[in-house]
Amino acid sequence: MRLDKYLAHAGLGTRSEVKKIIRSGRVLLNGVLAEKAEEKVLDSSVVIVDGVEISLETYEYFMLNKPTGVVSATQDQTDRTVVDLITCPHHKELFPVGRLDKDTEGLLLLTDNGALAHQLLSPAKHVSKTYLVYAEGKLTKGDVMLLENGVDIGDETLTRPAKAANLSYYEILGQEGKSVQTRLELTITEGRYHQIKRMFAKIGKPVQYLKRLSMGGLELDASLSPGEFRRLTEKEINSIVNRSA
Ligand code: URA
Repeated sequence: MRLDKYLAHAGLGTRSEVKKIIRSGRVLLNGVLAEKAEEKVLDSSVVIVDGVEISLETYEYFMLNKPTGVVSATQDQTDRTVVDLITCPHHKELFPVGRLDKDTEGLLLLTDNGALAHQLLSPAKHVSKTYLVYAEGKLTKGDVMLLENGVDIGDETLTRPAKAANLSYYEILGQEGKSVQTRLELTITEGRYHQIKRMFAKIGKPVQYLKRLSMGGLELDASLSPGEFRRLTEKEINSIVNRSA
């Protein structure tokens, strides 16, 4: 495989970004400074970028349907973590790519590929994430427009444009009688702290249930119940690696 393709697959950036990394003299191929993007990487080759060995084969990728009640961390004093849920034998030190709140469910990627995680989480990459949201009350057209165009959630800038889909309303019977709930899917391209909850709080329709359905090219496997996980397929790995690069 060409060196630039290899580095892009490892999650270090786009083909043009990794070409720059090569040109700037940061890459050693078998101990020798690599100069050209087209140099060949063989199975036996050793590739080092900024002093760190870069490998394609050794990374592990798991998709978890995160249940509520566990925290998106590698360790925690009081709560179970998402890493604790990956109970199959693995030798790598996994970490979650990004965070879901303790009470949020859904797609969480766990890997030991730090370069890829960095790409997927980079604010500059605008990786899209789709959430299933149940919110209190009936969202108006104006609410949807606000969510889509950008909401002032108290940060320096409005939220970036978002996309709402599959909106529907439900009448629910609670302790205080009947009320209406809105269900919709919202795709955002940022990952600000409590972003979805803050967006809906701002329009006065608090989130009642939140689940992440997709991230970049990766979709939550609908056959995974909360708490279940599986390894990503080759196709899925390629989809996130290429999308983030
Ligand atoms: N937005 C939130 O408010 N919470 C999450 O867990 C994810 C996105």
